[in-house]
Amino acid sequence: MNRILVTGATGQLGKEVVNQLLNKTDASNLAVMVRDASKAAEMKTQGVEIRTGDYNDYPSLVGTFKGIDKLYFVSGSDHLSRIPQHENVVKAAREAGVKHVVYTSAQRKNDTDSSPVAIINEAHIKTENWLKASGMTYTILKHAIYLDMVPAFLGEQLLETGVAYLPAGEGKVAFTLRADMAEVAAVILTSEGHENKIYDITNEKAVSFSEIVADISQLTGKSIVYVSPSQEEYIQTLSAAGVPLEYAKLFAGFAEAFRLQELDLTNNTIETLIGRKPVSVAQFLKQVYAAK
Ligand SMILES: NC(=O)c1ccc[n+]([C@@H]2O[C@H](COP(=O)([O-])OP(=O)(O)OC[C@H]3O[C@@H](n4cnc5c(N)ncnc54)[C@H](OP(=O)(O)O)[C@@H]3O)[C@@H](O)[C@H]2O)c1
Repeated sequence: MNRILVTGATGQLGKEVVNQLLNKTDASNLAVMVRDASKAAEMKTQGVEIRTGDYNDYPSLVGTFKGIDKLYFVSGSDHLSRIPQHENVVKAAREAGVKHVVYTSAQRKNDTDSSPVAIINEAHIKTENWLKASGMTYTILKHAIYLDMVPAFLGEQLLETGVAYLPAGEGKVAFTLRADMAEVAAVILTSEGHENKIYDITNEKAVSFSEIVADISQLTGKSIVYVSPSQEEYIQTLSAAGVPLEYAKLFAGFAEAFRLQELDLTNNTIETLIGRKPVSVAQFLKQVYAAK
């Protein structure tokens, strides 16, 4: 049996991937790489092997990846330093003798610097290229934007203020639930035939923020308006409210990518892989907002 290691296993996606893997294979086939072993206590009691390592620490990665056949590589969360981190991971996996890497990349249409999210895409493009040149087999999962993040884009005070404020215009986005992406990962890691494949892991329907807000108004019985300001106004408003400029710009960049329809790609790959349809945006909104 293949020995599988999941990185980022104390993060939201990685933890869910481990949970899904435990439904499909024996815990003795599973290892995780974490920065802080105390956060992985529950996995340890479930029989998963806990290894420690850090994307910044090359020798730790080589040691951690020894004896691993399939690596589930969660992209780093620090977008300012993840390019060298990802280079470390790919090189260390090769040095340690990993056979196959499954990498969590991102959906995109524009690979150039003109993309409003070029700063996010750069690490993914480089990592995909390193994997392709590595001699290891790989599966690249180009993840859509997490459906779980819609409430954050709308603002936590949405129902109190009655205003959804985001410069996304009428752009549609194929938001997809993290848990569905995790189930996809577990299937790919425990089955064959995914070598050197690139999958867009995305929902079957893309929706605009106008549609999302109309749905929430109906679900809650509250009148909510959608306001799409200019990018400049949005960044100024968020900064004035105390949001660090770096994050205000990042959110504005994503909103601009939404407006330009850079993240509206849809397909039925999830259903093909996991045998059921992904959770739709409408289903998710019902779960989150219906009781409010
Ligand atoms: N598609 C989308 O909409 C979307 C949105 C946000 C992020 N992402 C990307 O998807 C990834 C997974 O998402 P998520 O929601 O699971 O994020 P998350 O909850 O922030 O988890 C990130 C994981 O990466 C680990 N990590 C960060 N830096 C590391 C390092 N230097 N060495 C080793 N591990 C490190 C973290 O370890 P600790 O547990 O020790 O902190 C954590 O387990 C993110 O990291 C980001 O690249 C995608």
